[in-house]
Amino acid sequence: MAEARRRVIITGDGPILVYGPVDVEMPDGTRVRSDRTVTALCVCGRSRRRPFCDTSHRRRARDNSRQERDP
Ligand code: FES
Repeated sequence: MAEARRRVIITGDGPILVYGPVDVEMPDGTRVRSDRTVTALCVCGRSRRRPFCDTSHRRRARDNSRQERDP
């Protein structure tokens, strides 16, 4: 039986959102499973829960906007 096509959303400054359960293969070959309805994958490299997003990317965006206001 063919698997259903998954929906993937690439957000601007945040994670990649994958709809449906996923198995993520890491660089060392291990697999990390997520059974969540939507899985957020970190692309900024700051998450402490990699490969999953822990919203640390928001801190960088906030820091950058603060620097723009207070040079
Ligand atoms: S994309 Fe959210 S912590 Fe990296």
